[in-house]
Amino acid sequence: METWHPTLFIFLLSLSTLYHLCFSFSPVDNYLLDCGSAVDSTVDNRLFISDSSASSTRFSSSARTISISAQDHVQGLPQIYNTARVFKAPLKYEFDVEDTGTHMIRLHFHRVSSLEVDFLNSQFHVLVDGFVVLNNFSGGCLASPRVMEYLIWVNSGKLEITFLPAKKSKFGFVNAIEVISAPKDLILNASQFAYVDKIENFGELNKQALEIVHRINVGGPKVTPFNGSLWRTWVPDDEYLKSRDGWERVYSSGRIRYQSGKSSREVCPDNVYNTARVIRSKNASIPDMNLTWEFPVTEGYTYLVRVHFCDIASSTLGTLHFNVYVNGHLAYKNLDLSDATDYVLASPIYADFLVDADHSGVLSLSVGPSVDSMGYAVDAILNGVEIMKINNSMGSLDGKVSAEWVMKKCWPRTNVGVLVPSIAVVCLLLIISMVIHRRMTNSVVWSKLPTDVLEVNPKNGKAQLSVEL
Ligand SMILES: *[C@@H]1O[C@H](CO)[C@@H](O)[C@H](O)[C@H]1NC(C)=O
Ligand SMILES: *[C@@H]1O[C@H](CO)[C@@H](O)[C@H](O)[C@H]1NC(C)=O
Ligand SMILES: *[C@@H]1O[C@H](CO)[C@@H](O)[C@H](O)[C@H]1NC(C)=O
Ligand SMILES: *[C@@H]1O[C@H](CO)[C@@H](O)[C@H](O)[C@H]1NC(C)=O
Ligand SMILES: *[C@@H]1O[C@H](CO)[C@@H](O)[C@H](O)[C@H]1NC(C)=O
Ligand SMILES: *[C@@H]1O[C@H](CO)[C@@H](O)[C@H](O)[C@H]1NC(C)=O
Repeated sequence: METWHPTLFIFLLSLSTLYHLCFSFSPVDNYLLDCGSAVDSTVDNRLFISDSSASSTRFSSSARTISISAQDHVQGLPQIYNTARVFKAPLKYEFDVEDTGTHMIRLHFHRVSSLEVDFLNSQFHVLVDGFVVLNNFSGGCLASPRVMEYLIWVNSGKLEITFLPAKKSKFGFVNAIEVISAPKDLILNASQFAYVDKIENFGELNKQALEIVHRINVGGPKVTPFNGSLWRTWVPDDEYLKSRDGWERVYSSGRIRYQSGKSSREVCPDNVYNTARVIRSKNASIPDMNLTWEFPVTEGYTYLVRVHFCDIASSTLGTLHFNVYVNGHLAYKNLDLSDATDYVLASPIYADFLVDADHSGVLSLSVGPSVDSMGYAVDAILNGVEIMKINNSMGSLDGKVSAEWVMKKCWPRTNVGVLVPSIAVVCLLLIISMVIHRRMTNSVVWSKLPTDVLEVNPKNGKAQLSVEL
């Protein structure tokens, strides 16, 4: 069992950023699209613009898309989930990007209750800038919306999100899309990164596609886009916690002391750092136990595990020392939070680990007393956890398929974007030849218009389109 080299740990913690002291981060690129809606919607004080009116976004499809609206609006469900854009052929959204770097992408899916489409037939793939993010996706269940979140590095001036129905008989849909430039300190450019069980050159972490699979507020309530930072959701840890007893929940109403070069409010908000679970010794004897969580993961992927610590439980500095284990490996030995925070209580840090998911389908995370733990003190703590899936060697987050393969297999001759001008050219040639033909023969043979009519900016086309689906 190898431990992570402490200098590497310090290196990761001390890479400084420009954004630490900003109270409210304002992203350079900030697109909130309400898909398939004719009007804009407000959710948690954020305005989602109707995708047919958004000016700096373009969307194109090789066929007609339709907008559907819910039959009955569900009480309490945000407005964006009452409409969807539905398509039977590839659909591409293109966003102008000003800020080179990591972007947060959220895709919202909810099976709108509608008589127009049968959601049993939804099955589609989603590509983001050449990465496969969803493969054979059906859009989740009817009961509750599904939000998928990714971190993707954008180099060029634009970002493309392509949706492809899995077969001609299937269709795809989307309710809302968010594309937001992330703070520069969210994912670091560590060219050497440490695996939990081996040290290996990983390459540039921030250039990989990441999917946020778990984001947990340990010992606290749900944190929502409304009361957290960067409009993210952190869920309570109860369903992942494996240790039945021996722990204690702690809560602090005091100020979280963010320090430059360590964690920032954007990396993780106050209301995640001000709750935690701890192991505490009430007398001289240190409990012989670990506090353990288990998270479902998929074999065949490497995961980035980010653990958040903030000592809101100790009454004095220098008393909290503990071990951190990932998948049973000692990931950090004798972590001394006072030392790591330059001797400031309630000051947050985070640490990143890389780990390969094994066949168990579970990633386990434990904190527990170390040889330096003390009696009458806190012996382990955890405030928050994020678990992110890293794309595989095919550039996919969902199966062993590459974006090229998906494009070729599903829609062999359809290349959205190229198709748009080429159809125009074909139409033009057709018209010219018809005119010439007419002049020559005087007898015109009319053929039926192709059903796949190109419509780049469709209006609400409910009446005609219900026939198609
Ligand atoms: C999607 O599922 C179908 C079966 O429904 C399967 O044949 C196909 O290979 C899957 N596609 C990908 C890209 O894995
Ligand atoms: C990011 O990594 C690349 C290659 O590993 C390196 O050339 C570059 O200087 C790094 N940038 C920063 C800001 O560390
Ligand atoms: C955040 O707001 C939600 C309601 O939107 C509430 O349920 C939750 O308790 C709040 N969390 C915190 C930490 O205040
Ligand atoms: C310390 O307290 C635990 C229970 O909290 C008890 O089981 C243990 O015997 C105590 N040890 C001593 C030395 O008092
Ligand atoms: C805590 O977990 C680690 C890793 O699984 C294990 O080696 C250690 O024995 C555990 N400690 C206790 C007290 O169970
Ligand atoms: C992620 O995808 C990129 C682009 O396809 C590739 O260069 C990189 O090696 C992939 N990452 C891993 C961990 O395989």
